[in-house]
Amino acid sequence: MVDDQRVRADTPGVGTGSVFLDSAGSSLPPRIVTETVITHLRREAEIGGYRAANERLDDLAGVKDAIAALLNATPGTIALSDSATRAWSDFFYAVPLRPGDRILISGADYASNAVAALQRARATGARVEPIPSDEWGRIDLDALSAMMDERVRLVSLLHVPTNGGLVNPVAAAARIAREGGALVVLDACQSAGQLPLDVAELGVDALSATGRKWLRGPRGTGFLYIRPELVASLEPSRLDLLSARWTGPQEYRLATDATRFEFWEHDVAARLGLGAAVRYLLDLGPDDVFAAIAERAGYLRGALGELPGVTVRDLGVEHSGIVSFTVDGLEPVQVRDRLLGEDITVSVSHRGSTLLDMSARGLDSVVRASPHYFVSHPELDRFAAAVAAL
Ligand SMILES: Cc1ncc(COP(=O)(O)O)c(C=O)c1O
Repeated sequence: MVDDQRVRADTPGVGTGSVFLDSAGSSLPPRIVTETVITHLRREAEIGGYRAANERLDDLAGVKDAIAALLNATPGTIALSDSATRAWSDFFYAVPLRPGDRILISGADYASNAVAALQRARATGARVEPIPSDEWGRIDLDALSAMMDERVRLVSLLHVPTNGGLVNPVAAAARIAREGGALVVLDACQSAGQLPLDVAELGVDALSATGRKWLRGPRGTGFLYIRPELVASLEPSRLDLLSARWTGPQEYRLATDATRFEFWEHDVAARLGLGAAVRYLLDLGPDDVFAAIAERAGYLRGALGELPGVTVRDLGVEHSGIVSFTVDGLEPVQVRDRLLGEDITVSVSHRGSTLLDMSARGLDSVVRASPHYFVSHPELDRFAAAVAAL
């Protein structure tokens, strides 16, 4: 069990009377994360960025160790990045595409993935095709099987969408895609830190995630996992002197591991903060954390479901920590702003972020409440009462 008192004491943003329900946007970091970042920035100011980084080489290497432990991977398969989108596209733009190739995307895929896929399809003559959703809104596994042929080059799987509580059956979908001969990239931006992510069990070729959401890391951090057997066959679309060595007037040599997807320059303080965030999660015990999030989201879903005029919009059978809803007679942004007036933080997910799914459901936007394990039940009750009072 997560020690509620300890994690709340570790979180400066709670206990002040506010209610924080936006970990799907950008969560509240634990004190150790903020202290790690600030301490390093101070050290940079004292002795310069290069010396300061050299003092922390072991800790910097430890960032990948921690992420690898979380994913059941090895550190060499991890490339550190500055966002989930950057990580996803670093992989995606390295996959060779030819005219007639097919790229399959998930029904609830994120806009940034979709526009990148459309851009490359336009440039290469490939096609982007959405995988149909089943009656629960999940990736339809039968439909995916039927779509597979030798022209499907890449399947983009979305684990947990930005706009609701759906959890896709990604391990089963990945199996179908890989057996069909395609590469599989998993957008784990909303699942990293709230659901188990064992890359061996998931069977994906690549996985992208951010630091700032459920992992409670700093903004401007993210990472990419690449299956070790695949790395050597992928040439990143851009290189620098870390991803490749300049070995002769006409020659360069790519890094042999996932480092080939990294650039030399990066925000060292933020990266150290990401390491602290992942270690904090590992120390708490990921399974306990995941259970605590699911319990709170379930509690919230139940409370909202009982309110007249409130419609919970979550799809799927199994649910994530994201609770999406609408209130009759109020725009989601009005709901968000009125709750903000009571120091309750939620966010709004707009149609453009998950165009296919929201269009299919005739929704323009939904309110998104995403409780992390540090949110208390009295805070959840205060939120439900505030929504009821709307
Ligand atoms: C499902 C999903 N994928 C990708 C992203 C993009 O993440 P980032 O802003 O770190 O690039 C988001 C952000 O909200 C998301 O919810």
